[in-house]
Amino acid sequence: MKLKLSTYIVATFGAAFGLASCSASGDFPGLEYAPQMYHSVAYEPLTQITDEDEGSWLSSREDGKGEFYNSNPNNPHGMNMREPAPNTVPRNNRGLLPYRKSVADLEGAAGVENPIELNDEVMSQGQQLYIQYCATCHGSQGEGDGKAGEVIGGVANLKGGAYIDLPEGHIFHVITHGKGRMGAHASQISIERRWKIVHYVKQEIQKQ
Ligand code: HEC
Repeated sequence: MKLKLSTYIVATFGAAFGLASCSASGDFPGLEYAPQMYHSVAYEPLTQITDEDEGSWLSSREDGKGEFYNSNPNNPHGMNMREPAPNTVPRNNRGLLPYRKSVADLEGAAGVENPIELNDEVMSQGQQLYIQYCATCHGSQGEGDGKAGEVIGGVANLKGGAYIDLPEGHIFHVITHGKGRMGAHASQISIERRWKIVHYVKQEIQKQ
């Protein structure tokens, strides 16, 4: 059978175009034929399907049985996510432990040291956070003369008398849980940021 030249041209360009359209570029992730041949199927966290039929459509096993991607046979009860080992506590990505009231009340808090290393950057972040969260009541210089503080009344003068000697852990505790008429700030300010504010209060506001 004789084919016209134009047929060859169309076929060649068609094939080239067809292949090229599969490849990934820019924001286009490309098309893959039978992706389950290349990618392992991850366990789906927080699910636990134990019905064999549920997983059967994913199966590449010869017997066509479900592979239970939603249940991990190595874990108790087929769980995909294990519970943490007993008595372990989570740390954040800076290695800081969570701060719990039950662990340290106000007196106990006095002994807790500031885990954040003091440097210029921390000081300027602490200043910014102090202005953002504390100055409204305590005033920009900490003298208890912030605008909102006037309304509330009785705001502690952080530069005055006994407040000067407050341990860092005590200030952290007060920011975290509040005290008297000052509310808790734990939900608004992360642990790390609270300690930065503490640095700023001790180093700058209470500078003697
Ligand atoms: C809404 C107003 C308000 C804000 C915002 C506020 N405070 Fe206070 N703060 C107070 C008041 C009022 C008191 C006095 C509490 C009392 O003894 O009843 C106080 C007391 C304190 C004390 C003394 C605690 C003690 O042992 O007596 C410290 C330290 C303190 N604040 C730090 C801060 C820091 C740091 C921030 C910012 C994260 C902050 N405060 C934000 C109102 C505020």
